[in-house]
Amino acid sequence: MKLSLLALLLLSCQVFAASPEAVYGENGMVTSRSALASEVGVEIMRGGGNAVDAAVATAFALAVTYPSAGNIGGGGFVVVRLVTGEVVTLDHRERAPMSASRDMYLDDEGNVVQGLSTRSHKAVGVPGSVDGLLTLLETHGTLNRRKVIQPAINLARRGFPLTYDLARQFASVLTRMNSYPASLDKFSNRGKPYSPGDIWKQPDLAKTLQRIMSRGSSGFYDGPVGALIVEEMQRNNGNIAAADLANYRSVWRDPVQGTYRGYEVWGMGPPSSGGVLVIQILNMLESYDLGAMGYGSGAVIHHMVEAERRAYADRAEHLGDPDHYEVPIAMLIDKQYARARFADFDPDLASESSDIDAGQWVKESPETTHFSVMDRDGMMVSFTTTLNSAYGSKIVVPGTGILLNNEMNDFSIKQNTPNQFQLIGRVANAIEPGKRMLSSMSPTIVTKDGEPFMITGSPGGSTIITTALQVIVNVIDHGMGIGDAVSLPRFHHQWLPDRILHDAFAISPDTRVKLNEMGHRNIVQSSRGIGDANSILYRDGTMRGIKDPRGDGAAIGF
Ligand code: DON
Repeated sequence: MKLSLLALLLLSCQVFAASPEAVYGENGMVTSRSALASEVGVEIMRGGGNAVDAAVATAFALAVTYPSAGNIGGGGFVVVRLVTGEVVTLDHRERAPMSASRDMYLDDEGNVVQGLSTRSHKAVGVPGSVDGLLTLLETHGTLNRRKVIQPAINLARRGFPLTYDLARQFASVLTRMNSYPASLDKFSNRGKPYSPGDIWKQPDLAKTLQRIMSRGSSGFYDGPVGALIVEEMQRNNGNIAAADLANYRSVWRDPVQGTYRGYEVWGMGPPSSGGVLVIQILNMLESYDLGAMGYGSGAVIHHMVEAERRAYADRAEHLGDPDHYEVPIAMLIDKQYARARFADFDPDLASESSDIDAGQWVKESPETTHFSVMDRDGMMVSFTTTLNSAYGSKIVVPGTGILLNNEMNDFSIKQNTPNQFQLIGRVANAIEPGKRMLSSMSPTIVTKDGEPFMITGSPGGSTIITTALQVIVNVIDHGMGIGDAVSLPRFHHQWLPDRILHDAFAISPDTRVKLNEMGHRNIVQSSRGIGDANSILYRDGTMRGIKDPRGDGAAIGF
């Protein structure tokens, strides 16, 4: 009752478009791509767990209830604001196996072998999720493994009714699983597509999760599960060896930190490019009054596109795994550098990206997932995890229920050659044994004078960065509530290909004319919604969670 009165008061002093309304909570909030997984996280906090406990439980649950991206066979990044106000980040990105080499996806003539880095056992990076989740739990959680993994085991063992969304996804991915019997077995009903409402059980995955619960990391990286992964690799010309699994470690890294109009922005540093680019783009935009130009105006789109163009060009040159390549992070997030980089910006004229034939935008449906968690003590968790493509490599390791990633395609497999997100890269992101492939994942936390303000992030390959950016700009510059900031149409530019990609309704006909006049010729509507930015805004003592309407799932608060 108290809460709804408060909500009414707040509603009366904010301007809303017709976006879905945020969910309000005072004690805890989880917003994720799966309602079942959000519920798991909220139950953990109701039972006294903190936001990290809830995030770990949500992530294990997503591996069961949202298998196209939720995973234990992939990797991710997490940014956490502790109750002390300190912000920490954990990199549990996949690594290249030790037998990987720079030209492993090229033929004798130096041409890319189609599909080898996306649809083969060689596409798989050494998974980081299990080590990451358990390291996070041990360091900043309060509960034991049983408490946070058991809900996922229950969902896998007892099963749950398939939503329309999941049944449709399974049906559409089956043909790409034809050569993998264990994958067909997992995702089909004895060879036939599942229907919405069917109860879907994953007994093998339940057993694997049980092993992780009892034995910790070694329940995944060695013992019977590790052995099954290695056997699957050996049978199929894959690269992951027992030592690759045994040596996998997640890494605590310094967050990248910037400021934007008096707010502190905390992001994930390399091997993700996300934090650096979000901050770099915000730095370039800070001297311009985007709010006065107005959301959706040609002027705002032009300013943001031009900043994005420059930042993504830097990404291709400078960003890679900092353990293997010296990334000039301080330079890239420096405000003076941003001013210099943007000095040639013309408010009336588009600049030109280099002329590279970029081919198609996305060859197959990509999939990653982002979720946000906050507890009553102000602990905030911004978590993005992925298998890379939807259902990763499509390979389920027989006997384990584990679906493997195809993250190796995020390396620059050949200089200046676009990957599946049309991103190009160079030496900084070339393949080396043990190296982590560059990511765009941008789990982000924004604070104001050190106090909680916002959690955001998204899937979407190269569009992840500009999605997080737009949620921040929508709230800070355009004064939107979180419902509008997340729901309203987005646009994206990544230097190459030289084009503005946009959601339906992002660019009105007269705005398009204006952009054309400035020289933005290539303006293309995306065939799917850009991003899925499950976010939380904290204001006046209330958490407002929003499930991005572009995807399934739920924000649940209490
Ligand atoms: O790490 C990255 O940047 C990519 N592997 C993310 C893939 C992705 O977001 C696909 N999702 N929609």
